[in-house]
Amino acid sequence: PRYLALIPAAGVGARMAAGSPKQYLPIGGKPMLRHTLDAFLSSPRIAHTYVVVSADDPFIDSIVPGQGVTVLRCGGATRMESIRNGLRALHGSVALNDWVLVHDAARPGLDAELIERLVVETGEHPVGGLLALPVVDTVKRAVAGEVATVSRDGLWLAQTPQMFRYQLLCRALDAATDPSAITDDASAVEALGLAPRLVEGHPRNLKVTLPADIRIAELYLAAFSQ
Ligand code: CTP
Ligand code: MG
Repeated sequence: PRYLALIPAAGVGARMAAGSPKQYLPIGGKPMLRHTLDAFLSSPRIAHTYVVVSADDPFIDSIVPGQGVTVLRCGGATRMESIRNGLRALHGSVALNDWVLVHDAARPGLDAELIERLVVETGEHPVGGLLALPVVDTVKRAVAGEVATVSRDGLWLAQTPQMFRYQLLCRALDAATDPSAITDDASAVEALGLAPRLVEGHPRNLKVTLPADIRIAELYLAAFSQ
């Protein structure tokens, strides 16, 4: 089987509120989405990369590299819809048992080493897996005036890439009836009663969501570029 990357990049970046989609904002002088694409292009494991953008996206053509990336103009109203549409567009050109690494455009700190770690630790797994970070903070749950400390034992924060075989990913996302309950791809797979593997990610692979995250992403980029 091959390893393919599918990058949802059809969001509007409402929480970033930058006036244009956040995936095109510069991080250290380079558009965020280009960092994300370059991570996959620099990985010898990845056979091809697909990026899902909205039908009328005016920016993608100026940042997409000439080779190794196919643009799919089939973005939907939600992240899950964009991924579903992207998977549908791949039908026929990928094998049912090919691995698909779904990765947010808004995580520009990914690198080939993290991709390699995920692939090596998940490539033989019957279900698939994802990068995630063990929770290090003390966790509180506050509901209706009651406050309790939740044991962080076994708690992880999910990152991406999330890696599943094409056929399983399609089945899981098609079976998801409540899209608001599905905030990542792994949760759709878990809803089928399957347990993906958690592979330790890295804080540099943060999701850029709020304006302050741009600076944090730039600091990680500077700290880890040699
Ligand atoms: N995404 C997508 N299609 C959508 C919504 C989101 O492809 N309809 C993508 C985003 O481009 C991003 C990833 O899914 O790469 C994670 O989503 P998020 O960080 O929430 O990005 P936005 O939805 O753009 O941001 P916001 O929720 O603040 O509007
Ligand atoms: Mg969003």
